[in-house]
Amino acid sequence: MIEFELNGESVTSASEADTPLLWVVRDELKLKGTKYGCGIAMCGACTVHIDGVATRSCITPLSSVAGHAVTTIEGLASDAGKALQKAWVDEQVPQCGYCQSGQIMQAAGFLENNPSPTDEQITAAMNGILCRCMAYTRIHKAIKTAAGGEGA
Ligand code: FES
Ligand code: FES
Repeated sequence: MIEFELNGESVTSASEADTPLLWVVRDELKLKGTKYGCGIAMCGACTVHIDGVATRSCITPLSSVAGHAVTTIEGLASDAGKALQKAWVDEQVPQCGYCQSGQIMQAAGFLENNPSPTDEQITAAMNGILCRCMAYTRIHKAIKTAAGGEGA
């Protein structure tokens, strides 16, 4: 049994130690907001925070989060996270929506450390979080709005 914190609550998982965190969160703990895209750290759909750091859960073994704090999109309550969720609605960012929790989790981790980013810093931070619907312009604009900028 492996114990960790999930969205502020202590949880225990009976999965094998090498089970990817993504499947523990989705299948065992029933939080479906974190998505499976590629399974090989190439798309970012599975991004969660571990101790506040944006991390690809599809390649993160359960054993590595023992005693750590995991946050998924369902529990994102930081100031940056709230600002992003409001900006996402205001800017009507999603198309199909599949990539969106990964986009927001990546952006939230980034804004925590870079509250007033430049366009170039936003582009670099979001590089590799793929959107098949090509909503990149709206994603970028929403991040800038959330950071207090005027949008791209
Ligand atoms: S599912 Fe984890 S990066 Fe694609
Ligand atoms: S909104 Fe469809 S994959 Fe990004």
